[in-house]
Formats: sequence, C-alpha cells, structure tokens
Amino acid sequence: MTAVLDTVIVGAGQVAQAHARALAASPHVRLAAVVEPDPVAREAFARRHGAPAAYADLDTLLTAMRPDLAHICSPPGVHADQAIACLDAGAWVMCEKPLCGGLAELDRIAAAERRSGARCAGVAQWRFSPRTQRLRDLIDRQAFGRPLAVSVETAWFRDEAYYAAPWRGRWESELGGPTVGVGIHLMDLALWLLGDWVDVAALASTLDREIDVEDVSVAAVRFASGALATVVNSVLSPREESRLRIDFQYATVEFNALYSEAPGDWRLTARPGYEPLLSAWEREAGAGPSRMTRQFGRFASAALGEGDVEVSLDEVRPVLDLVSSLYKSAATGNVVRRGSIAPGDPFYARVSGDLGPGAFRP
Ligand SMILES: NC(=O)c1ccc[n+]([C@@H]2O[C@H](COP(=O)([O-])OP(=O)(O)OC[C@H]3O[C@@H](n4cnc5c(N)ncnc54)[C@H](O)[C@@H]3O)[C@@H](O)[C@H]2O)c1
Repeated sequence: MTAVLDTVIVGAGQVAQAHARALAASPHVRLAAVVEPDPVAREAFARRHGAPAAYADLDTLLTAMRPDLAHICSPPGVHADQAIACLDAGAWVMCEKPLCGGLAELDRIAAAERRSGARCAGVAQWRFSPRTQRLRDLIDRQAFGRPLAVSVETAWFRDEAYYAAPWRGRWESELGGPTVGVGIHLMDLALWLLGDWVDVAALASTLDREIDVEDVSVAAVRFASGALATVVNSVLSPREESRLRIDFQYATVEFNALYSEAPGDWRLTARPGYEPLLSAWEREAGAGPSRMTRQFGRFASAALGEGDVEVSLDEVRPVLDLVSSLYKSAATGNVVRRGSIAPGDPFYARVSGDLGPGAFRP
C-alpha cells in the first residue's frame, strides 16, 4: 500500500460532503474518484471537492481503478454489497451507518474481509470526541464505580420533506426508522461505553409520518454489568435533543446536545465525598479536529499499518444485534436475549425480520 491512500467516495449526497471535508484534513489520503448515479450531484461533488474522476456506478469504477480506500456514503440498502465489492477489489472500507442490513450481511462482509485481507469499519464518529474517549478511559478504570441507571434518548425531528427521498422510510432501502437510522449513534455510544448488553424489551409504532417503517421506538435494555437502560428513538420531536445520562455509583454523567458535540455539552455531578472526580473529569483535551476527521485519520493510519482498526465488524455487531433484537421484541412482544438471533431466524436475515410496510401502524 502506498503512503498516500487513493480514496473513493461512493454516494455523493449529504453525508459525503462531511466525509470529503474530513478526508481533506488527512495527509495520508487523496480523493481519487467519486461514484454517484445522479449526474448533477456527481459533477457538483467532483468539482467542489476536486475529485479527478467520477463514475455513475461502483462496478465501473472498480474495473477502471484499484482504490486503496473506499468511503461508502450511499443509501443503507446497498452498503453490504458495495462493501463486499470494494473488499474483494482489495480496498479498505469505511462504511456509513447502518453498516449493513443485518447480522447475515455482517457475516458476509466478514467473509469478504477474510478472503481479501482488507478491512471494513463502520462510521461511529460519536465515539471519537476527546470527551467520549476520556469518559471511556475513566469508565474502564472504574473511576465512577459501577453504572446503574442509563437513559439513551434520540429525540429528533424529521418532516415529510425528509421522507421525500425515495430510499427513506422503507424497510428494504432505509432498513428501518429512527431505531436504525438516527438512534443508532447514541445506542452505539452507550454500548461502547458500558459494555455488553444482555436482553431487551421494546415497543415500536408508526404514529405521525406516512412511512412504511416505525417513527418512534422505546426499549428497556439490561447490561451485563447489571445496569438498566431506557432507550427512546424518535423522529417526531419538535424540540430536538440527543441525551445520554449514566448514573454511576459515585457520579452522574450527562450529555445533552443534538448532532455535534462541544465540551460544554457534557456534565459531571459527583456524589458527596467524591468531588475529586470533578478535577479528573475537567482535564479536557480541547476542541481540535472534528470527530469524523479523527476516526477517518485513525482508519487511514491502520490501513497504512499503524494502529488497530477501530469500529471493526466485531465492534459493530453489538449495536446491530441490539437493533435486530429491538425490532424482534417489538414485533413479538417477547424479551430478546443478546446473541439469540442466529441463522434461520428472520431477524438474522434482516434487522427488521419479515416486517412489512405499516407493521407498526396502530
Ligand atoms: N454518520 C452520520 O452522522 C450520518 C449522517 C447522515 C447520513 N448518514 C448515513 O449516510 C448514508 C447516506 O445518507 P445521506 O443523508 O448522505 O443521503 P443522501 O440521500 O443525501 O445521499 C445518498 C447519495 O447516494 C446516492 N446513491 C444512490 N444509490 C447509489 C448507489 N447504488 N451507489 C452510489 N451512490 C448511490 C444518491 O443518489 C445520493 O446522492 C446513509 O446510510 C445515512 O444513514 C450518516
């Protein structure tokens, strides 16, 4: 592999702009091409970000060139096949969330990794702020004691115009509603911070959008540590908020923000007698590069042989298993245990099992 990685972006919509900006900040990456079926979006993207080549589809690109790195920013329904095609062509893959449509596809991507030797990671930029990295370190060192009670709330607002994009709001192309589309960020962050989950009981409904998938889901999750969490995933919330609250034995840690993150969005309250925790917490690393810039830079370094792959397929599995189990619980009314969804289960084949349009309409 060369010292500067020839990188392609697949899908030139909204999130691809952020990828291109983040990649431009890395000295180890060169934007080599873009794939985008829409000719207007394709040309505009290539011009704005200086991509020297542009293709209407991925197969044509992979016939024409051998990229070192592929960033997949297309709609979720095509992520798995595109990731596998890139891996089979020898490219390392950074794939947008949701990484794929279920545990079966995750296993297919893992098989492609083993075939090719190239690696695939999922975008999970919320894990990469200085604050979340420091929090994870403090939790691992048990500075706050055991986690006990947790709230994970993604209360966002998506109107009818948002669902006008043809791939949104359908099981086959968006793969689900806010559970898999927006709440996955904060659920992933909670799992990454707090470790293994054990079981989930969930409800989902389609209350106020003309879409096939759910527009709100709620769940109760038990962690292996014993901690209990409530989860809300909504696109119906006029006052939008992303909120994570973790009550540990010795302190409460709270995050209140929306899409981005600033140091002031986090708050620590120590239990009386544990005030010294506050000074450990206040040693803040400052703003610095964006979360995507950090994640992508570290992945490029791993591709160049420096450091481990972060947000690997194994590290994406817990949240994909949680999403599949949440849908299964909401569909069946049963509590679903982690790891119980196996080949032969419809919720192994797809996160949403065999749920059809309007399955959660009251
Ligand atoms: N990490 C984040 O914070 C974040 C934020 C927004 C979106 N996303 C994810 O990024 C992905 C794209 O979302 P978006 O908001 O940019 O959507 P978008 O609709 O703005 O962009 C998707 C683009 O992919 C193109 N496309 C369609 N089929 C394609 C194909 N087969 N090959 C290549 N390109 C194709 C579309 O024409 C469109 O330009 C989704 O998986 C979404 O969940 C992640």
